[in-house]
Amino acid sequence: MTNAVIETLMTRRSVRAFQEKAIPADQLQAILETARFAPSGMGRQTWKFTAVTNREKIQKLAAAISKELGREGYNMYQPEVLIIPSNDVESPFGKEDNACALENIFIAAWSFGIGSVWINQLQGICDRPAIREILDSFGIPKNHVVYGMAALGYPAQEPKKNVEKIGEVAIVE
Ligand SMILES: Cc1cc2nc3c(=O)[nH]c(=O)nc-3n(C[C@H](O)[C@H](O)[C@H](O)COP(=O)(O)O)c2cc1C
Repeated sequence: MTNAVIETLMTRRSVRAFQEKAIPADQLQAILETARFAPSGMGRQTWKFTAVTNREKIQKLAAAISKELGREGYNMYQPEVLIIPSNDVESPFGKEDNACALENIFIAAWSFGIGSVWINQLQGICDRPAIREILDSFGIPKNHVVYGMAALGYPAQEPKKNVEKIGEVAIVE
């Protein structure tokens, strides 16, 4: 049993190499809208979604992360766009809300043929001064923390079709 949404869900794979090709502004806007419409704990929506479309700015953040984590050459896979969901540090559900929004972003992106991958490396280090300075320059509120981010771009290679997934499912009647 399938339909267009299920097809998109089933064929999305994490993409870790991107073409240098711009994402149309209207598609990026639509992707961001789906993030805003994701479920959030108690409907609080204490979040903001910041899309960085300038490759140099993205790489400035990657370089700062690389330095903080001691991971030489870390470049977040050089995406065309980086979406940074941020959430009020006081939000009790910030991390869960972040995951819901990211999945909407990944699926909406793939519905346009745009690849994506979760970037987790800011988690726990977003308040280090060198990182916060860059987040400030992106207009991310000072009281917001960042959990996972979304790297986006057109895939450099076609994602694998037949992947093995090992999680079990069961239906109990
Ligand atoms: C909580 C979480 C953190 C992740 N962090 C990263 C990451 O930092 N870098 C990365 O390349 N992939 C990351 N991923 C992507 C997973 O590696 C990927 O979803 C998994 O290997 C399954 O592959 P698929 O997305 O192609 O189905 C993360 C995924 C989740 C859910």
